[in-house]
Amino acid sequence: MEKIEFLDLGQQPITNNFLSNEAPQNEFLYNLRVGYDQATSLVSLMEFIPPIKMFNENYAHRASQSQTMRKAYKELSDNLKKKFKPKSILEIGSNDGVFLENFNNIINVGVEPCKNLAKITNKIGIKTYSEFWNYNLSNKIINEIGLFDIVYSANTVSHIHDLEDALYSISNILNKNGIFILEDPSLLETLKKVSYDQFYDEHAYVFSIYSLNKIIKDIDLEIFYVEKLNTHGGSNRVYFKKKFGNQKVSNNIDRMISEEKELGINKFETYLDFSKKVQNSKKNLKNLFNIIKDKNKKIIGYGATYKSSTVLNYCKIDKNYIEYFIDTTPNKQGKFTPGTHIPIIDPKDGMNETVDFAFLGAWNFRKEIMNKEIKFIDRGGKFITHVPNPRIL
Ligand code: TYD
Repeated sequence: MEKIEFLDLGQQPITNNFLSNEAPQNEFLYNLRVGYDQATSLVSLMEFIPPIKMFNENYAHRASQSQTMRKAYKELSDNLKKKFKPKSILEIGSNDGVFLENFNNIINVGVEPCKNLAKITNKIGIKTYSEFWNYNLSNKIINEIGLFDIVYSANTVSHIHDLEDALYSISNILNKNGIFILEDPSLLETLKKVSYDQFYDEHAYVFSIYSLNKIIKDIDLEIFYVEKLNTHGGSNRVYFKKKFGNQKVSNNIDRMISEEKELGINKFETYLDFSKKVQNSKKNLKNLFNIIKDKNKKIIGYGATYKSSTVLNYCKIDKNYIEYFIDTTPNKQGKFTPGTHIPIIDPKDGMNETVDFAFLGAWNFRKEIMNKEIKFIDRGGKFITHVPNPRIL
């Protein structure tokens, strides 16, 4: 693969490295640059970060923390059971089991390299392999358990550097008529929303349907259906079957690919244009923060997301702009944001009358958050977002 760089997001930390110390020594930083592959139109980071630096026993993200996501996983589980009647399901990147727990009456198996998370699911009776997904692991699971009717993986395959091996191993572990469901942020939505914060250490790739289709050319997988989702700021749920599998291929795939091509997803110029938009977004967000600060207003951050780490570090927004972040995740509280060292506290302590503005780190949960914070809005509190362009809501 030959990647050509189109975007430089500057020095960035490991996004899940929430710090216990405000002034850490030797914090690991790297230059976050994004590139485009002419042959496959695959968009990926120019430099991959060693997985063990990101996915270890300190991994902070808990999938079950969000009500929206919990509900979405339950709904998806009900639909899959009805439609495909699976007898077995494997999840790659099973996190704290929020999806797999809906399949307790069939064979449900997790793969989760982060030991702290695998411990949680093993404890609640979901057999979980705490290893990185690859061909060897797929064979080990086949030997110990067998082939699977469904392989599900949300926000994980885009993290795996050897993409072809990951997909090949999935095809390896599927039954003849088995299906693989991949869910990852949509490149189309990223371009449309100028949500450059989809790029960070973990997101080695941001997929389009167009590029996925190219990548699986030599693998026994074929896309048979695609759903657009609102999760994570706009994702695709892509259904794959084996090439001789019995599922019917929907004509919505051609439609989606046409839509992507209309936006120029397969042209390098599109990405150069995107890069310009990102630079403008930075300038405008910084201006907005400066105007608010000049009026001596208090700004906090709402949701210390991984995504926001890219924005804060790229735009150099630190404690001088954002006094603190609030976040409901217990193991982020009491810590500091990576790279920018802004304290993170419990919303109970931080969401009070002194707050004038809240920057939406978790802009992907805008609706859920705005519904929850009626009191803040009623007393004149305002939210700031950078998506699709920096503004006060
Ligand atoms: P997430 O959507 O997983 O984004 P990323 O993958 O970029 O980290 O993270 C959402 C974060 O926002 C999570 O840390 C929880 C936090 N959050 C709140 O603090 N309050 C809320 O009301 C919501 C919806 C999320």
